[in-house]
Amino acid sequence: MQCLKIEGGFPLQGEIPVHGAKNSALPLLAAAVLCREEVIFHNCPGLSDVAAACRILEQLGCRIRREGSTIAVDPSAIGNHWVPDHLMREMRSSVVFLGSVAARLGEASLCFPGGCELGARPIDLHLMGLRALGMEITEQERHIYARVPNGLRGARIHLRFPSVGATENILLAAVLAEGETVIENAAREPEIGDLAAFLNCCGAKIRGAGSGTLMVEGVPRLHGCSYTVMPDRIEAATWLCCGASAGGEILVSGARPEHLESLLPLLERMGCRLRLDAAGIRLQAPERLSGCGEVVTSPYPGFPTDMQAVLMACACSAEGESSFEETIFENRFRHSAEFEKMGARIQVEGMKARVYGVRSLQGADVTATDLRGGAAMAALALRAEGSTIIRDIRHIDRGYECLERDLSLLGASIRRVNEEEIKS
Ligand code: EPZ
Repeated sequence: MQCLKIEGGFPLQGEIPVHGAKNSALPLLAAAVLCREEVIFHNCPGLSDVAAACRILEQLGCRIRREGSTIAVDPSAIGNHWVPDHLMREMRSSVVFLGSVAARLGEASLCFPGGCELGARPIDLHLMGLRALGMEITEQERHIYARVPNGLRGARIHLRFPSVGATENILLAAVLAEGETVIENAAREPEIGDLAAFLNCCGAKIRGAGSGTLMVEGVPRLHGCSYTVMPDRIEAATWLCCGASAGGEILVSGARPEHLESLLPLLERMGCRLRLDAAGIRLQAPERLSGCGEVVTSPYPGFPTDMQAVLMACACSAEGESSFEETIFENRFRHSAEFEKMGARIQVEGMKARVYGVRSLQGADVTATDLRGGAAMAALALRAEGSTIIRDIRHIDRGYECLERDLSLLGASIRRVNEEEIKS
């Protein structure tokens, strides 16, 4: 098994790029199924989840060409509506193929994605919305079979919670439904805007992305197009928090400040100086950070659950207390026990965590608990004195192209090692 080895305690300096957004690329690849001609995606991140989505597309009959960060999907020969379990299980968000495959082929068969390290992750909202559009969906022994016996018809759908995945799934089916669909209390995340912009490029008629009410006028078919995936706001936040935690001065190039409006004021409150310009976001960290106050995760434009762990890493060495309340996923503080191995002081009670900042942290042997928690361990290890080993980094590889390559650009001492190398 591979691990990351980090020598911490040194400030960072330099420029780090932001890659294409994982959480945008995945629904975009699923959306390609809806098109009648080739679609070309630029700026796709080189992640294991993206590779898994490409394998699903190939299984469905699409032809894939990949060159660097460009992925061309030719869906003209698509004919298979069935995704085998092992491909579905490689990536939880594969459920987003349900809406697009059933809308394009009239049926879809895939296994239930199930829970994950973050919690139960039900898909009832996805199914409710797709059924409202006229899909007949049966669930049997963790398998989902959807068919469209009488065509899809537009509907008014109200989501009791603005689920990102449910909004995407419903949108993917609604673009080919007859008549108008209105999705109320839709997710407002920028990735939804990216998906809507891509679909509109292919001939869809979607209005209201980003507003909470999506209006879709169904069209009979979508054509191909060439599209550039938006920059990854969670990766940008990770780099900014690494700079804040380790200290120093960095430029996160290509970061879009308008996607980070809930994080940037918190970093300033902690004492960081930020400069936004055409190149990206420049961060200058203070000698020691101050606490970030009370942070409550919530749907966009609130503070994202995906940035909670990396900001908590900053709070661990800050002066004073910080508190975090998680409202999206029930199991998203698992990194805190690993943080404590490095000397952090954190008190977790249910969905709340209180962090008492300490002056010094020490490197330790820790295990990545999930994707963002794992990246946050790297941010903390950059601050800690001495050497840290992060195990189980397959979680990190799902969301960061090559964490060690990118952080090395900032002068960080970080490398990928085999477990055997550590023992010897
Ligand atoms: C997306 O997951 C992201 N994944 C997650 O990023 C992110 O944490 C999450 O949105 C919240 O922002 C992708 O985009 C691939 P949700 P998703 O549906 O769509 C409940 C990362 O680290 N819910 O908005 O699965 C659910 O249980 C990942 O990159 C229902 O109750 O999130 C949760 O409590 C992790 N019923 C809440 O809504 C449903 O049918 C938010 O889930 C669907 C969701």
